[in-house]
Amino acid sequence: MLSKRLSGLKESATLKMGLIAKELQEEGKEVLNFSLGEPDFKTPEHICEAAKHALDLGYTHYVSSAGIEELREEIAEKIREENKVDASVENVIVTPGAKQAIYELMMSVLDDGDEVILLDPTWVTFESAVKIAGGVPKWVKRVENSVNYESLESATSGNTKLVVINSPNNPAGYVLSEKELKEIAEFAVEHDLLVLSDEIYEKIIYGKRQVSIASFDAMRERTVIINGFSKTYAMTGWRIGYAVAPSEIAKGMLKIQQHSVTCASSISQFAALTALRSSQGCVKEMVEEFKRRRDVIVNQLNEIGLRCLNPEGAFYAFVNTSNHGNDVEFTERLLKEAYIVVTPGSAFGLAGKNYVRFSFAASIEDILEGMKRIEGILLK
Ligand SMILES: Cc1ncc(COP(=O)(O)O)c(C=O)c1O
Repeated sequence: MLSKRLSGLKESATLKMGLIAKELQEEGKEVLNFSLGEPDFKTPEHICEAAKHALDLGYTHYVSSAGIEELREEIAEKIREENKVDASVENVIVTPGAKQAIYELMMSVLDDGDEVILLDPTWVTFESAVKIAGGVPKWVKRVENSVNYESLESATSGNTKLVVINSPNNPAGYVLSEKELKEIAEFAVEHDLLVLSDEIYEKIIYGKRQVSIASFDAMRERTVIINGFSKTYAMTGWRIGYAVAPSEIAKGMLKIQQHSVTCASSISQFAALTALRSSQGCVKEMVEEFKRRRDVIVNQLNEIGLRCLNPEGAFYAFVNTSNHGNDVEFTERLLKEAYIVVTPGSAFGLAGKNYVRFSFAASIEDILEGMKRIEGILLK
């Protein structure tokens, strides 16, 4: 009964781990969940107030499919000022979550059999979105190594259409260096490719400078920036993301949006507008807390002999499990013996085998308790 399109799709491993954690909790186990892909902070109060205000004013109907004008203008201004990318309202489309923007892009630019370069490991949705749109994923390893022109070229054929990058990165926590970005840009220009640059973790960064590949020469017309409010403002449930795309692509994406979801929630869009227009102090506070947690988890992991890449951005520690079996064995052991939930790295691609992803969107107490439990089982 089901379409062929669905046959290559895996269940989302990150959502699955969350469900297992919930089941164990319901059985009364003291579960520590390090699999979450969302900030554990409350959405800042002034943003919630803006949503209440929008409700009171009766903004409860359909809005323009591409998003409310004020929000699109504000996003275009942010992109110009912060990301140094020339953008105007017609380049911006506000979507129900960044995820929807990714699907709309894939549906707009891929034909059956078009190939898409993904850096391995990568956030689970990219591969699925490519496949749903009829595309074929091609993997280039980027874990502890860096990516360069040659490695990209080795995955390229006459059918290559798009390169997907995500920096700061989920799951590996790296931030692509300017040198890497330059090589990716050079490669895209040389091979006349599009680039999807997922910058959703841009603010959650620990010291390095965030650079958008779209700001490089000749890249604006071939780059689609994907971003959103879920991570920066702890607004995952509000479902507001956006794409900034060359006009022709933005128009294509809009058609998909018009015929699928119509528009993103009106109330959430007013909340997002307030998020952008108000003080960014709340973001600074959340990032400072993430940094404290990052320092604690990296320090603790090293102390118990688990090697972890130092996360430069996002809120994930990618931990090498080679000395303790592969990622799936290690994940199961943590779950059964310590009631600790993490995500096996192979969920994010072959290069993730022998790694597990710890999300540190968890309190410092939970991190410390978790590390104590892990040390306990490793010493057994
Ligand atoms: C790299 C990346 N992009 C996009 C998203 C989804 O964002 P949204 O909640 O806006 O759909 C996530 C969520 O985990 C992510 O990790």
